[in-house]
Amino acid sequence: MIPIPLERRQLRIGTLTLDVPFYQAALSGYTDRAMRLLAKRFGSPLTFTGVLLDKIALHPKAVKTLQFLPDDEEHPVGAQVLGSDPATMAAAAAAFVKSGFDLIDLNFACPASKVLSRGRGGYLMNHPAVVAEAIERTRAAIKCPLMIKLRIGFDDSERSRDDFWDICRRVAAIGPDAVCIHGRTVAQLYRGKADWSVLAEVKRQYPHLTLIGSGDIMTAESVVERLTSSGLDGVVIARGAVGNPWIFRDARALVEGSPVPPPPDLAEQAGVLADHLRMVLQLKPEHKGLMYFRKFAAGYSRHHPNRKTVQLDLMSAKSRLQIEQAIRKHYLPDE
Ligand SMILES: Cc1cc2nc3c(=O)[nH]c(=O)nc-3n(C[C@H](O)[C@H](O)[C@H](O)COP(=O)(O)O)c2cc1C
Repeated sequence: MIPIPLERRQLRIGTLTLDVPFYQAALSGYTDRAMRLLAKRFGSPLTFTGVLLDKIALHPKAVKTLQFLPDDEEHPVGAQVLGSDPATMAAAAAAFVKSGFDLIDLNFACPASKVLSRGRGGYLMNHPAVVAEAIERTRAAIKCPLMIKLRIGFDDSERSRDDFWDICRRVAAIGPDAVCIHGRTVAQLYRGKADWSVLAEVKRQYPHLTLIGSGDIMTAESVVERLTSSGLDGVVIARGAVGNPWIFRDARALVEGSPVPPPPDLAEQAGVLADHLRMVLQLKPEHKGLMYFRKFAAGYSRHHPNRKTVQLDLMSAKSRLQIEQAIRKHYLPDE
């Protein structure tokens, strides 16, 4: 695979320069401190929280105690703000920056029905003026880098297409530090294939925008393929990193044209699983933590030759002891 040319290997988001043109996407319900730290350890130069409701930031005392705040060793970490009112979103962004985040991302992409019904996230894809006002107000409220997350429209109607291009036009004029676009419509949720041709067209029309693409980046190879074929400045790794932090290490190698490291052996997999579990159980009580960890079991077990049995054992563990036993049994049988 041909490496990415030197001049395209860095990704600049305002004052933040990433040394590779990809990073860990925001994933609600996944990108807690544990997943973020693993992503960073394996080579993601930036990570994000999942979406944070702007109103949380209006209770500064509550913010200080929340688990999503970045640790000292994590930086840079972005906070993703969700809201419906531009003034509240801007105030929330300023409060999150004060709490220690390095970058703000305004979310106009979330397709969850309760988010849409409250006029937030993807709902705003049909409201270009509100999107523009939220960016302008937030720009004025913070000094750190500002980016936004869009989808390619609310649905595939002509009105939505017009609104999408209207948003692009307004965004290009305001100039946030970067724009990340998921190549599906809001109505599509996560179904079907992401349409990267729309993303490439945005870059062609607005070459000065720092444009980052999202959708179906499931392998390290697809990071390089998409960067090369779309002409975008960066890509984000989302579902492809769940139970697979090695994707960052391999993508780094491919971008730089270095040999891709061999796949993780069982001992390395056991170490990462145990570390991830330990960090999750520092954040959550045992029962909740084990339930939560199930979401990662399918991803991790995909690297194991006995995938199905391993997944079942990791998912059915009822205590920390049981899951640790399952890890030893499947990954470290000689110990
Ligand atoms: C479970 C889940 C949670 C997500 N949470 C967020 C989020 O909080 N903020 C955001 O901008 N995107 C979120 N996304 C969208 C992803 O960041 C990404 O844009 C999308 O999954 C497409 O990339 P992929 O096909 O490579 O996974 C989420 C996606 C999933 C599947």
